[in-house]
Amino acid sequence: MKILSIETSCDETAISILEASGVVESPQFQVLGNALYSQAKTHAEYGGVFPALAKREHARNILPLLKMALEIAEKNGLEFETNANSTNFDEQKDMQKISDIKRLLEREADLGDQFIEFLKSQPRPKIDIIAVTNGPGLEPALWVGINFAKALNMAWGIPVVPVNHMEGHIVSVLLEGDKAAIDFPALALLISGGHTEIVEIDGWSSYKVLGRTRDDAVGEAFDKVARLLGMPYPGGPHVSKLAAEYRAECESNTNASQYKFNLPRPMISSPDFDFSFSGIKTAVLYTVKKITENNISGSKDSAKLTAEQKKALAAEFEDAVTEVLVAKVRKALDQTGAQTLIIGGGVVANTYIRAEFEKLIKEKFSHVSLRVPSVDLSTDNSVMIGMAGYLQSGKTDSRIDPLDFKAEGNLTF
Ligand code: KG4
Ligand code: ZN
Repeated sequence: MKILSIETSCDETAISILEASGVVESPQFQVLGNALYSQAKTHAEYGGVFPALAKREHARNILPLLKMALEIAEKNGLEFETNANSTNFDEQKDMQKISDIKRLLEREADLGDQFIEFLKSQPRPKIDIIAVTNGPGLEPALWVGINFAKALNMAWGIPVVPVNHMEGHIVSVLLEGDKAAIDFPALALLISGGHTEIVEIDGWSSYKVLGRTRDDAVGEAFDKVARLLGMPYPGGPHVSKLAAEYRAECESNTNASQYKFNLPRPMISSPDFDFSFSGIKTAVLYTVKKITENNISGSKDSAKLTAEQKKALAAEFEDAVTEVLVAKVRKALDQTGAQTLIIGGGVVANTYIRAEFEKLIKEKFSHVSLRVPSVDLSTDNSVMIGMAGYLQSGKTDSRIDPLDFKAEGNLTF
């Protein structure tokens, strides 16, 4: 089965074409074409993702990305209908479809006109389903992908399968070199800029959220702390780099830092699986204020911290977050008897967090297999949406009448 997948839930616009085969228990995937554009730089000056801007950028980039993904996929064997006269769009023959598509895309600037032009020269690709993220995420951003999927459905008659973005993060591990099927029950820790949750998985499509953050997501906390330390969005990698430098200095006695801060570990011993990260971030804010309050130079607080102080704070913050994540997952593994631990979401790129989980599994849960996606698949992408779409497509109610299908910013399992 060939799947075209679309992701626009946050600040990555992405389109992929996958070949999927095999039973749901042990699916096989091959990426035929993949095109992704990250808007991170565009949003950097706002210190976070700005929804109206995200929507505009998705609408601007989605069609060029589709063309790119199709071109790459063609080189990898994707086939197209050969009778161009019957599959390419024609002003006369397809008048009704053209006006329907233009109406559907009327809120996406001039995407409608460009799309019609594209259809006139594009033979229909031999694709079986379109998978598109319908939530959770920023609704204006989600709508661009959804309307684009609907327009493709109108043009080419390909059924659409809506996909939960978080399911995408979970199944992102299925493309790994380690192709062994997942042993259930499995547990997933999803850590991204928008989400932090622990999910129990009894089988594909059978998800139960055990706990989630009550305020900030892990990535969001990293981004906010980065800002307090004077670093640009997205700040996670910057904080992580400082923390690594601090640890390296502490290990080499000659350079040991003179600073050691103490931040709270919120909810680490609470009886549930919920998290709260806004308290750690606020504690960082107060620590920064305390260090700098005697300095009246008038510059921004972060500018008054020394490089050594920033490194020590970054390391303590990363430690605090990691300890809480590890403690909750450890409890969840004990309680569920999970056979597999999946960690997904953009924060998986954090090498310290990954290493601490590897340690936990090695030392305490050697019967559990740890599955972590490659860095490319841990941040937002459409390959994971296509894989989740394949797992969904077997369900009888998964193919939605495109007209009934909408963005759900707060979609949960
Ligand atoms: O999954 P993702 O790409 O987008 C969302 O769905 O949110 O995650 C992005 C988040 C950002 O908050 C970013 O700062 C964080 O992942 N991140 C990191 C690292 N790399 C990315 N956080 C901590 N350490 C990292 N190395
Ligand atoms: Zn995500």
